[in-house]
Amino acid sequence: MAENMDEKKIIFSGIQPSGALTIGNYLGSLKNWVELQDEYNCYYCVVDQHAITVPQEPKMLRKNTLEILAVYLAAGLDPEKCTLFIQSHVPAHAQLSWVLSTMTYMGQLNRMTQFKEKSQKGEGNLNAGLFTYPVLMAADILLYNADLVPVGEDQKQHLELARDLADRFNSRYSDTFTVPDGYIPKLGARIMSLQEPEKKMSKSAEDPNSYILILDDEATIKRKFKRAVTDSIGIVKYTDEQPGIKNLITIYSSFSNMSIEEIEKKYEGKGYGEFKEDIGQLVADSLAPIREKVEYYLDNKDELERIYREGAQKAEKASRRVLSKVYRKVGFIQR
Ligand code: AMP
Ligand code: TRP
Repeated sequence: MAENMDEKKIIFSGIQPSGALTIGNYLGSLKNWVELQDEYNCYYCVVDQHAITVPQEPKMLRKNTLEILAVYLAAGLDPEKCTLFIQSHVPAHAQLSWVLSTMTYMGQLNRMTQFKEKSQKGEGNLNAGLFTYPVLMAADILLYNADLVPVGEDQKQHLELARDLADRFNSRYSDTFTVPDGYIPKLGARIMSLQEPEKKMSKSAEDPNSYILILDDEATIKRKFKRAVTDSIGIVKYTDEQPGIKNLITIYSSFSNMSIEEIEKKYEGKGYGEFKEDIGQLVADSLAPIREKVEYYLDNKDELERIYREGAQKAEKASRRVLSKVYRKVGFIQR
């Protein structure tokens, strides 16, 4: 954007504080954020307003919000390099969301698979926020004129809506928003459940054996991998016929930076027992330093507070500029 004096391209992404983070969140999203922070002007948000589209215990929401910010920092995000903030601290997200919602077709929202899945779970009392959630996500992204949005595979459809709305606004009024692109990793974009490898690993799943949390301790991580569902074929091979093993190889590769071929070769002629033992150790060793740092930040809440306050200030400044441009274009009178 011409108005942006900073030459760097812009990134926006966020994670909902709706529970503790899994290695799916880490590999699909957060790990890439860290790699991108040197080259881009990054805004990374804890999207608490998204989280309340399903019922949240207020105390837990507060805890999870701070914990996720601590995980961001522990994973290597540097508040000197990027803007780390909490969504509800920056009112422009909800404000832009309203304007964009008036340009979003009901049919588009009806087709969103995440909404369909959540509503089919039969949770009853479906709320309007769950339905319009992708509009808020579009507002998050467009407010900063993000060029790139690093997310896992499951967010593709939501991202498409953000692109659509940017186009629609630009052509109805005049060029305002950058049309964002997704940044989806080749490997790790869809980490599967350890118990039902045909389903995505999710922090809201009922069975804790189906996911590994970033903050799980070593014994828990090893135990969960030991119990991971595999098959009776008995060969460590990356193939659709062996979805459990395929998922474990993906996780192994993402944490070790070894290629799939190297991993298959390493375990040639060996059973699943040894493979599971090793992957448990690898993942536990990789996550241990993150866990330690998270503990540090949770013990030093004043430091967290300073970081999210500064982040909110920076985000507010950038977002206010874009919001007032939008308000002007739609015909709202300036104060
Ligand atoms: P959420 O937990 O829904 O807020 O997701 C936060 C980020 O993690 C998004 O970019 C998701 O695409 C990503 N993510 C969530 N679950 C997985 C998974 N099982 N595999 C890969 N990425 C995931
Ligand atoms: N909807 C995303 C998820 O569930 C979280 C999210 C909200 C997000 N706003 C965003 C991701 C903006 C990227 C950019 O994972």
